Amino acid sequence: MKTPKVVFVCQECGAQAPKWMGRCTECGAWNSLVEERAAESTTAAPSNNRFSQFSTSSTARLYAEVEMSRGVRLSTGIGEFDRVLGGGVVPGSLILLGGEPGIGKSTLLLQAAAHFARSVGPVLYASAEESEHQVKSRGDRLGVGDTPLYLLSETCIERILEEVARLSPALVVVDSVQTVWSNKFQSAPGSIGQVREAATQFLFAAKNQNIPTVLVGHVTKDGSLAGPKVLEHVVDTVLYFEGERHHSHRVVRAVKNRFGAVSELGVFEMTGTGLRPVPNPSRLFLSERASGAPGSAVVCCVEGSRPILVEVQALVSTSTYGNPRRMAIGIDQNRLALLLAVLEKRAGLSLAGDDVYVNIAGGMTIDEPAADLSVVAAVASSVRNRPLSDATAVFGEVGLSGEIRGIPQAALRVKEAAQMGFSRVILPAGNVDPADNLQGDGRCELVGVRTVGEALDELIA
Ligand code: TYD
Ligand code: MG
Repeated sequence: MKTPKVVFVCQECGAQAPKWMGRCTECGAWNSLVEERAAESTTAAPSNNRFSQFSTSSTARLYAEVEMSRGVRLSTGIGEFDRVLGGGVVPGSLILLGGEPGIGKSTLLLQAAAHFARSVGPVLYASAEESEHQVKSRGDRLGVGDTPLYLLSETCIERILEEVARLSPALVVVDSVQTVWSNKFQSAPGSIGQVREAATQFLFAAKNQNIPTVLVGHVTKDGSLAGPKVLEHVVDTVLYFEGERHHSHRVVRAVKNRFGAVSELGVFEMTGTGLRPVPNPSRLFLSERASGAPGSAVVCCVEGSRPILVEVQALVSTSTYGNPRRMAIGIDQNRLALLLAVLEKRAGLSLAGDDVYVNIAGGMTIDEPAADLSVVAAVASSVRNRPLSDATAVFGEVGLSGEIRGIPQAALRVKEAAQMGFSRVILPAGNVDPADNLQGDGRCELVGVRTVGEALDELIA
């Protein structure tokens, strides 16, 4: 008998080496090579290769002749989850849901599975991390009740797939892809080889039998999905579960979606009875805003297709150290440094001896340049110790010469601000364009500004 082929695989980048090395030659990671044994392939002829079953049509077809299947979407029964998926689950799609431990991945999927089972058809929830008892005791809290929901506590991929073939469910959930293993590999669950194998096997099962499948993925310390990047290439949709452990709200974000818009966002609140969708996140993020406090500005950002108002807070205090601190939570640290430099040079604010702290309230993260003007406004308001008006919202990108640049989807932002009761919006002059259909509708005054100086004059009288 031939001995199985041994390869050493880098757990960071997936590169292979014939022998162990202290450092991966591809990505330079230290001590990341792990021994993996590939199983002997039992299939010799390419025709019965396990990959060949995947190809459905082997002859090329003319574009015009390909029939369109109507974009059927199956609702998960949770509006916010459907929204991130681009309107619901596409049959035969493979979805990866990543997030930190304890953030609520299993909770959300159990809730979605229960709804799905009730309205669409039987669901198989394969839990490799928890026993059926544990899943059920969580289900009791979530009020799952009597639905065709099958629980399977199993770690072997081949066994899970047997059950999928036996039950042919309408949805399969695998919790999690890092804890299942295939008997084709001898390496431990969670290693690159196993994770890749799991993703590929579930991909084939999903496409062949047209069963949508959701995989739960763990994330590493730095917040990226554990396992190789290939996982993200294999699946159709990648969702990230975000949120601060100390806040009750959670955000599910689409970072890749073959069937919908990316950066689409679903907002939830963790309650004693599971995750509750939050249809109006602006209200949630602004709920604890102190009125008349200096250093606070409200920005209208857009996540995917959804406008959200969030509060940006800044605190500027005299530094006691030679090296002043600049701390940003929820926005990019480098972006803050840039904005402070613009404030010093173009608006004449002196910040050289001050510590500057900027925080996005409620644990949100904003990476849009549209938030620039709100950061500048909050910092200036804190420096001068003068509050901004409670009824004013801002948005706009700040350029290095202190100019305010126009940003996309201005009308959507203004509409949301007006709806949330803001009577004045400071925005880039380039966005106040009659052709853009963007004149105040009487309820909300629009003030276009060209430079940082002009904006601060309007904001802090
Ligand atoms: P869980 O879904 O187990 O997280 P993950 O699968 O991402 O690791 O979520 C566990 C957390 O959620 C736990 O800290 C308790 C909390 N929780 C609630 O607050 N209310 C609930 O109804 C449930 C089921 C969990
Ligand atoms: Mg879990």
